[in-house]
Amino acid sequence: MKPMKGWPYKNFPTSWFVVGFSWDLQPGDVQELEFCGEELVMYRTEEGEVRVIDAHCPHLGAHFAHGGCVKGETLQCAWHGWRWDGEGKNVEIPFKDAPNITARLRTWHVREKDHVILVWHDSEGREPQWEYPGVPEFSDPENFHQPTDHPDAAICYGELRVNPQLPIENVADPMHFAFVHGADRPAESGELELKDEYLRSVFRLHLGGGHESTWLTPEGEMWGTVEGEHWGLGLGVARLEVAGMTVAQMVSTTPLDHVRSIARTWIAIRKDGSGDGGVSDGAAMLMREQVKQVRRDFAIWENQKYVDKPLFVFPEERNFYELRRWFRTFYPEGDGPADEQSVTVSSASS
Ligand code: FES
Ligand SMILES: [Fe+2]
Repeated sequence: MKPMKGWPYKNFPTSWFVVGFSWDLQPGDVQELEFCGEELVMYRTEEGEVRVIDAHCPHLGAHFAHGGCVKGETLQCAWHGWRWDGEGKNVEIPFKDAPNITARLRTWHVREKDHVILVWHDSEGREPQWEYPGVPEFSDPENFHQPTDHPDAAICYGELRVNPQLPIENVADPMHFAFVHGADRPAESGELELKDEYLRSVFRLHLGGGHESTWLTPEGEMWGTVEGEHWGLGLGVARLEVAGMTVAQMVSTTPLDHVRSIARTWIAIRKDGSGDGGVSDGAAMLMREQVKQVRRDFAIWENQKYVDKPLFVFPEERNFYELRRWFRTFYPEGDGPADEQSVTVSSASS
């Protein structure tokens, strides 16, 4: 895989990024983790706390995920048995009566929320500048089926040549719905709000156009609303409301290095009160449809070249400029397109 042609940034953005689904890391598990060009290890203690640390033991460099094991609330290295706590302090050296009090293992900021594990990345090494507040649907199992309720609700798309900005640019791209997603017309753009690390967008989608009835629109064509919310560049939600259904689909893109990322989606869908209380066939179909549409986007982005001065012709596409200025705020000063103007003045006219 080659890097995206024309990509203007040297650093990884400052944000919370998803490094795994919670259920894939059980107490006692120790896993290798590639993250923003770093070799890391994540583990879950016996009490259930997730920790992310540098991969190699400060003693003599063994890799913790190769034979290392969880001992209570510490991690023990496979090679000489040194034990490390959650702050990266050495707490035991076997056959010696005291630990090494100056040794330090680098630890990373971790959160766990909405069924995923998040790690903070900041190329300037600062403490977290903000928190991911969570999406209400994912802590409301009474009213929403959770991603654990159905095998099609949570998907890891594996390694893709897609950087975290590209999925977010979707919110400024109403035209592609008529091609990539099979709509009979472009989406209608609504609000776009950008404040600090938070982005909110709304657009309307025309569904079932040209058909008397489809499985999603049995009563004929109709409009649906998609509300997008993002917190930084690592994750966001697209909340689709159509025909009385609400489906919240989280999307995360996490850089492994400057070429590859891992993308995940996970869905909460409003319970419709039908059947035995499980996920209905209609809801499961909607989940699969959402995943299918995301794959179509990825297929475009994976092969896209970064165009610094796009040839925009529709007024709605001006939102790209706003977005690109916003993206820039997640990188260290001086990183990015050489000329700030390049994202502000290059609109082509039809
Ligand atoms: S390398 Fe880890 S204890 Fe020696
Ligand atoms: Fe799309």
